Amino acid sequence: MSLQAVRGTRDIFGPEMSAWHRAEQIFRSVTDAFSYSEFRTPMFESTELFKRGIGEDTDVVGKEMYTFEDRGGDSLTLRPEMTAPIVRAMIEHSYLRHHPTTRLWYAGPQFRYDRPQKGRYRQFHQFGAECIGSPYPESDVEVILLANEVLQRVGITKYTLELNSLGTADVRLAYRTALVEYLTSNADGLSVDSQRRITTNPLRVLDSKEERDRAIISGAPLLSSFLDEASSAHLAAVRALLDVAGVSYVMNPLLVRGLDYYNHTVFEFTTNELGTQNAIGGGGRYDPLFAMLGGGDVPAVGFSIGIERLLLLYEAEHGGWGESSINGVYVCAIGDAALLPVHVLAARLRKRGLHVVTDVMRRSVKAQMKDANREQVRWVVMIGEDELAQGTAVVKNMESGEQRTIAQHELESVLL
Ligand code: HAM
Repeated sequence: MSLQAVRGTRDIFGPEMSAWHRAEQIFRSVTDAFSYSEFRTPMFESTELFKRGIGEDTDVVGKEMYTFEDRGGDSLTLRPEMTAPIVRAMIEHSYLRHHPTTRLWYAGPQFRYDRPQKGRYRQFHQFGAECIGSPYPESDVEVILLANEVLQRVGITKYTLELNSLGTADVRLAYRTALVEYLTSNADGLSVDSQRRITTNPLRVLDSKEERDRAIISGAPLLSSFLDEASSAHLAAVRALLDVAGVSYVMNPLLVRGLDYYNHTVFEFTTNELGTQNAIGGGGRYDPLFAMLGGGDVPAVGFSIGIERLLLLYEAEHGGWGESSINGVYVCAIGDAALLPVHVLAARLRKRGLHVVTDVMRRSVKAQMKDANREQVRWVVMIGEDELAQGTAVVKNMESGEQRTIAQHELESVLL
């Protein structure tokens, strides 16, 4: 049996890789513009972190974690998301003592034992940002604007920003009681999964995609009518700031998110282009999380974007991964005498920062030109016996086809 990548994991290469690089550059430049710093945490953490941080009754902790015992008998989990690890790190390093308002971003692989399909993988990648320390709606909007800027610069347009408020813990408790009452009286019509969730995590019933659940959900009481004054004011301020920024959004009263740490603002960027995996990114305010992890009362808000879904949407909208930019130089040897000088020249050009390819297969000139085309270089520099004797090189511009002979010491001024 031939060996294959594990189900739900993918190799990334070729033109898709170029699209990843472009997206990664955009993350870096947008986070830089917003003054967010990169933070890296380990790929695995103690299982306890996610149980406490994400919530035992969530799908992520209940069904999707890659949990294993290491050789020392400790229970470890491959990270399914980044917010709990970031908060763990903030508490561990007493980071906020010196940076009371902390702005961080991250990008990296995450692991969830989900049923694989297009846009849903067991190893996937997130890019995200967290603004820690502010209870105010300005920070909610800052992270939304940052995410939106990334989506726009990547070049996607077919998405919607959905917004909701989960209010405070007290608001949710009162709402939960009303919701459980309603769902219990309609339990017979619900799917088995949703029936189970009435006791474990009733708010999650609201994002069920099952046809039979949708009809019942449409008559359910709405959290928005339970919001207290402070929660309503917070939401109104977020909306006003988004309006001022010219960012359009739709209110989705059924948006609850799948992780337990949220309160007040929650949001998702959704699309109709990717079938059932319609969330490209999501996030919200998570004031309770620091306390859940023993870190006291620290307000925070953030989001994560799924990089695979972002790029799938890009591919769907643009009909491909986009052109990788044409650049660089192919240094072509004509005849054996040029073999060594070509490598000396290549080393010289690389030192000047040029992207340089040489032939390592001792191919004919024709085959080298074919190779140069495949490599999508902008220039080909050819050196044969005549050029060696005269200290010249033939330079061909691969875009225009124009070709001329120049002195070797002038090469940099043409190629750079
Ligand atoms: P999340 O909604 O669980 O939030 O994940 C964010 C994004 O990751 C999703 O919108 C989706 O694009 C992508 N994603 C999730 N699961 C998969 C999967 N199995 N395959 C491919 N992509 C996937 C969080 O993780 C929170 N930590 C976001 C956050 C940051 N909240 C506050 N700060």
